[in-house]
Amino acid sequence: MAKLLINNESKKSKIAPEIYGHFSEHLGRCIYEGLYVGDNSDIPNVNGMRSDVVKALKEMKIPVLRWPGGCFADEYHWMDGIGPKEKRKKMINTHWGGVVEDNSFGTHEFFELTKQLGCKTYVNANMGSGTVREMSEWVEYMTFNGVSPMADLRKENGHEEPWTVDYLGVGNENWGCGGNMRPTYYADEYRRYQTYVRNYNGSKPISKICCGPNVDDYNWTKNVLETCFDHTPPQFHGFMDGLSLHYYTLPETEDDWNVKGSATKFTEEVFYQTLKRSLFMDELIRKHGAIMDQYDPDKKIGLMVDEWGIWTDVEPGTNPGFLYQQNTMRDALVAGMNLNIFNKHSDRVRMACIAQMVNVLQSVILTENEKMIKTPTYHVFKMFRYHQGAKLLDSELINNSKVGSGKNELPKLFESVSEDENGVVTVTLTNNSLEAAEDVEIAFTSDSDSYKVAEASVVTGKMADHNTFENPDVVTEDKFTDYNEKENGVTVKIPACSVLMLRLKK
Ligand code: AHR
Repeated sequence: MAKLLINNESKKSKIAPEIYGHFSEHLGRCIYEGLYVGDNSDIPNVNGMRSDVVKALKEMKIPVLRWPGGCFADEYHWMDGIGPKEKRKKMINTHWGGVVEDNSFGTHEFFELTKQLGCKTYVNANMGSGTVREMSEWVEYMTFNGVSPMADLRKENGHEEPWTVDYLGVGNENWGCGGNMRPTYYADEYRRYQTYVRNYNGSKPISKICCGPNVDDYNWTKNVLETCFDHTPPQFHGFMDGLSLHYYTLPETEDDWNVKGSATKFTEEVFYQTLKRSLFMDELIRKHGAIMDQYDPDKKIGLMVDEWGIWTDVEPGTNPGFLYQQNTMRDALVAGMNLNIFNKHSDRVRMACIAQMVNVLQSVILTENEKMIKTPTYHVFKMFRYHQGAKLLDSELINNSKVGSGKNELPKLFESVSEDENGVVTVTLTNNSLEAAEDVEIAFTSDSDSYKVAEASVVTGKMADHNTFENPDVVTEDKFTDYNEKENGVTVKIPACSVLMLRLKK
């Protein structure tokens, strides 16, 4: 039997709700069809946003949404996406399938969507092919509340009040699709661009996100921080509030993007390999975090993992440029492990956006015309929502065995624990084994006997189980009853291949 020992005598960092964030790009059917159908559609919508998807995302408690890219962001010219729709410019989406982008979803539509979702806004600006002026005018258009050319234009376009931009990304992947820059070049440009991200009207300052490394490019992190990290006291609002990190889990090969492997057909060996590769996120956060600690020991800036998830081959017969993939129990475990990792590093990780929200890569929602399904990843995000804003508690797994073999060996169980403002403890646990359930004794360093189970649910199934439009509930969040409240705590039997959530109350 394994034991989960929870230290409930000292609370650690607050788990930023933004760790449960999402990413939506003008890519495939994410924005168009997935989120936005236009107000003339037969699909039920409010101001063009599909009602079924908005409802599901609100139930999952989406905290923040990043838009418009991705690689698309560094080719996006925001002025093309404002004003009367029939007059908006059409462009080619060169990155994603070469399709026509009609710009019918632009700035006003993004803020309408985030208003309906009730979530924070993360706008990713164009540094790769845009100018400082273009970026600064966008900020003025979105956030200035006085008389100015851009504020007046916004009003002419029907929006009197400014919006709130919570986060602004200065470029995306500028080491690659965002301009192929070297770190020192990007860093100098970042200093210049961020200067003109003004905070108008004394409103809440926009948090600025600097483009961080690709995977394990520690040199990028070091060079960018060397040039951009500044020691200005926070009241003067420094150069950056966050540094991004992108890491995708490729199931079959380490770096051959042509052979990623199928989303639904894979061997047990590839299953364990995928989880092991996902676990690499922990090492990346520790190593990039250690570099950040050298410049920023007080942890003023956050590591923003604003793209992560599993990236497989597209579904057979679909446009390769649309990155549409199915989502199985394997994805549920990848989500559970990563979210547990982010919680445990919440002293440094202040945001994480899974890629991408609907119909692209590891999505929480898939749509097919008027139909919508929730994926196993959706159910994990929903179960984990109780961690948002709670305080991390130290936890340790004792007698935790291993699964997988050789280079794919990894711990069987993976956990994180938090306590909310009412003293309710949330435990989330993955069982990464395909074969064996595990009995786990859950104990606290203090008052173990007074905790009772207030709520418990599980997402479980066979490794390739997934939901389809014909069978939408193969994998769902189920009530979990296989536990015993004992004198010294609670014991649970966590099924093989599952993600478990328990709420424990005194
Ligand atoms: O999420 C798909 C793409 O992956 C994004 O556009 C880009 O930032 C990353 O390479």
